[in-house]
Amino acid sequence: MKSRPARIMNIVGARPNMMKVAPLMAEMARRSDINPILVHTGQHYDYAMSQVFFDQLHMPEPRYNLEVGSGTHHAQTAAIIQRFGELIAKDRPDMVLVAGDVNSTIACALVAAKENIPVAHVEAGLRSFDRTMPEEVNRILTDAISDMLFTTEESGSHNLLREGIESRKIHFVGNLMIDSLIGALPVARNSRLRHELALEQRSYAILTLHRPSNVDHQDQLTRTLSVIIEIARRLPVIFPAHPRTMDRIQRAGIHGVHSWSGGAIPGCGVWLLPPASYLDFLGLIEQAAMVLTDSGGVQEETTYLGVPCITYRENTERPVTVTLGTNRLIGSSPERLAAVAHEILDSGIARPDGSAPACPPLWDGHAARRIVEVLQDYWHGEGRAEMEETALH
Ligand code: UD1
Repeated sequence: MKSRPARIMNIVGARPNMMKVAPLMAEMARRSDINPILVHTGQHYDYAMSQVFFDQLHMPEPRYNLEVGSGTHHAQTAAIIQRFGELIAKDRPDMVLVAGDVNSTIACALVAAKENIPVAHVEAGLRSFDRTMPEEVNRILTDAISDMLFTTEESGSHNLLREGIESRKIHFVGNLMIDSLIGALPVARNSRLRHELALEQRSYAILTLHRPSNVDHQDQLTRTLSVIIEIARRLPVIFPAHPRTMDRIQRAGIHGVHSWSGGAIPGCGVWLLPPASYLDFLGLIEQAAMVLTDSGGVQEETTYLGVPCITYRENTERPVTVTLGTNRLIGSSPERLAAVAHEILDSGIARPDGSAPACPPLWDGHAARRIVEVLQDYWHGEGRAEMEETALH
């Protein structure tokens, strides 16, 4: 056993990192041989995109906030690299743990790898095989330089092996998002927003859109929303919008979407809301008749909850949500979106063939424990010599 605890820097930057890192911080805090240090890059900075997730997921305040803010991809990534580089020159950790596929993930992994600090990547190996997505580039590069790669589904492990990553580095541990979901669901069921909107169970749909491919092209955004307005003649469609999406809708001057200003939803139509908090969002999707999305994490949450999900994208990096879960990957044609949404509302079934959806293996609420055990082994065992050696330089 090593005499001092491992100082592990856990990185969060954007909203989807929070629910992955929160259960890890809690699990690490329970171990006497780990000293977890939380670093926020500040990629997301609005209360609704960041702090509310810290509060609801009971995360401690970050020890460091790099406050990089928004910018072009290259400017944002460069700012994170520079500031994280300066930070670890002053306060060198024993390991750096990054999550998911956002710009903060690759930026911090790159700095650590060049400093010979071991890198752990949670949610490794997912591939959309579409390099026009910025996240796909971030995933491939982060995996290539990570020392411990934790996968959420078996496809992730297979992708990594195919890319030549050594099998000893790959650990199939399940899904941290589901750890957070299981912990939060009892509270989410009493969420404020769910009560305020006063919607009956299964009487409404939830919509999220924020991929550049869907919202940055005015024509695609306008055609998509006109189809959704048509679907919303049958039931209210609740649309908590990412700041970028809100901006694009305002700029495009799209009509026929209602801005919600509080209180019960009076009836059918598309209702635009500010970004929802974690608990509010979970509370809403759990009881929805269906969810329309281009997000990654929402595909997983709906699969766990057994709620029908339409993924409005050409590809998914999370294929288990389609093969076992409730996800239907339909491409990005607005006409197909209308057809599948009506089919789900008519049939009420989650999977097109009517078979029962299943929970993917190891999505059981114990991913954080499995990950931390591997990190401990690395610290005390096999990785130790390597780390002590790098610490000498
Ligand atoms: C990022 C991730 C994406 C993830 C998404 C979840 C990358 C490459 N993309 O995309 O994978 O699904 O987060 O939300 O890292 N903004 C605010 N307030 C904030 C944050 C952003 O207003 O707190 C606005 C700004 O106008 C900003 C824009 O949103 O320019 C985009 O933010 P950015 O972090 O660059 O990317 P996301 O689209 O959020």
